[in-house]
Amino acid sequence: MHQLKKAALIVAAGMAFSQSGFAADKTVWITLGDTAFQQLQQAIPAVRSVQNSQQSVAGFKAATHHSEAVHVVQLSETQLLKLSGIVHQKLNRCGGFIQHSSKEEAVTALYAQPKTLAALARPSYTIDNQTIVSPMVAQMQATNIAQTIIDLSNFTNRYYKTTAGTNASNWLLNKWKTMSSARSDILVEQFTHSSYPQKSVILTINGTDNAAETVVLGAHLDSINLNGTTETTLAPGADDDASGIASLTEILRTMLANNYKPRRTIKLIGYAAEEVGLLGSKDIAASFKAKNANVVGVMQLDMTNYKGSPLDIYLYTDYTDSAQNQFVANLITTYQPTLKIGYDKCGYGCSDHASWYNQGYPASMPFETAFTQDNPNIHTANDTFQNAGGNADHSLKFARLGLSFAVELASDGPAVGDKVENFSGSLTKGQSKSFGPFKLKAGGTLTASTTGTGDMDLYVRKVSVPTTTTYDCKSDGSSSTENCSVNSTTNTDVYVLVSGYAAGNYALKVSYPAQ
Ligand code: BES
Ligand code: ZN
Repeated sequence: MHQLKKAALIVAAGMAFSQSGFAADKTVWITLGDTAFQQLQQAIPAVRSVQNSQQSVAGFKAATHHSEAVHVVQLSETQLLKLSGIVHQKLNRCGGFIQHSSKEEAVTALYAQPKTLAALARPSYTIDNQTIVSPMVAQMQATNIAQTIIDLSNFTNRYYKTTAGTNASNWLLNKWKTMSSARSDILVEQFTHSSYPQKSVILTINGTDNAAETVVLGAHLDSINLNGTTETTLAPGADDDASGIASLTEILRTMLANNYKPRRTIKLIGYAAEEVGLLGSKDIAASFKAKNANVVGVMQLDMTNYKGSPLDIYLYTDYTDSAQNQFVANLITTYQPTLKIGYDKCGYGCSDHASWYNQGYPASMPFETAFTQDNPNIHTANDTFQNAGGNADHSLKFARLGLSFAVELASDGPAVGDKVENFSGSLTKGQSKSFGPFKLKAGGTLTASTTGTGDMDLYVRKVSVPTTTTYDCKSDGSSSTENCSVNSTTNTDVYVLVSGYAAGNYALKVSYPAQ
């Protein structure tokens, strides 16, 4: 009864908008932090929290990993637009939220611990590629970043539903394609989302000998003007977040100019639809998790060109990975020793790093300022290149950081001296084949990975041959791209089982320090 009444109220609020001449107002489900929720409720009293992460309900235990309560709320699209504006205006801070495709998805997200990826071996955070990184960092130029910011902010807007927003995605696709056309190891493609036209853009540099492990650098390609979202509303989004896309583009230019070939795979991603609740990155991070993709590190560059705080680069410590953040701080000290590092938090769902964090991948978010001192013009027609100083000197620091992050991580592969064994074959549905024993040395890690067709699953076990129910590590995503690692403190035999969930071919690579 109570629930029904609430729902009726919300529907009524939505109808009020439609009757007063707004376009048909769809309702959406979001999750958002308590501070933002309190502001929202003051502005729109009819809005209710239908679920709160600190309450235990049937099937769900109260979640303790959020720094404030997180709520599930149903809103009309018009109200959603108001939400960011209200929080920015009242609290002078961003009020992040995540949009979901159903109430069930929202409630699950509220209680879900970030997924733990047991099979994921940490990359080495040792900084040992100075000879490759230092010359590249020195070649990076603010003027190139400035030009990309100008080009992107010349689109009327990059809103996720407009023609201009679609065109901006196509423009980026073509820009990255043209830049990398001479490289057969680079693929540039669009990622299609099911409920809106704007596509994300993904550039992949295939790793030379450790390709199954991926490093992701991201930024969002969409923009928003909270005063309106028509085809003709100006939303230049120069800082938010053309500056992030422009930083990625300068990283790409520099890697290409040096003919850099990573050992791990590198992906540069321009996300669609961040400004409406992380929609693009939510899809992409979930699709990587569904494939069991071994993403060893993620960096988000969202707003890099406005120098509004005394220090240079602020590392956001919430919804990010602390060990990777320490590595990022070390990268700054090593490659840009004159820069000063700050730390802050940006709250629930503030940018696309949160989508990766939620899927269990290590993410970092270096930001232009302390949280409450960011660019005051974002989400308006005044978020222009000129209004952030008319040069890209601040962004250059982030581009250099992103390059050093990607190259330090992606230049690692199987350790020198590791034994690498390759196998291939085909399996029918339900058929399995075992490999080993591999003689793993005390203190070492054995990594098995497959690529192929159909749907192969991978099982790894110490001492005896694994089955599909008995193993130390399994990787059973819905494709044939699988990864599994085991480590051991003593010398041990390790066995690997490849199992055909659906018929197909496999290529299996096993690398380990041998006894
Ligand atoms: N770039 C901002 C996030 C941001 C703004 C971080 C200011 C730190 C300071 C991002 O694009 C954004 O606007 N996020 C929204 C939430 C999003 C889920 C709609 C926000 O923070 O209001
Ligand atoms: Zn942004």
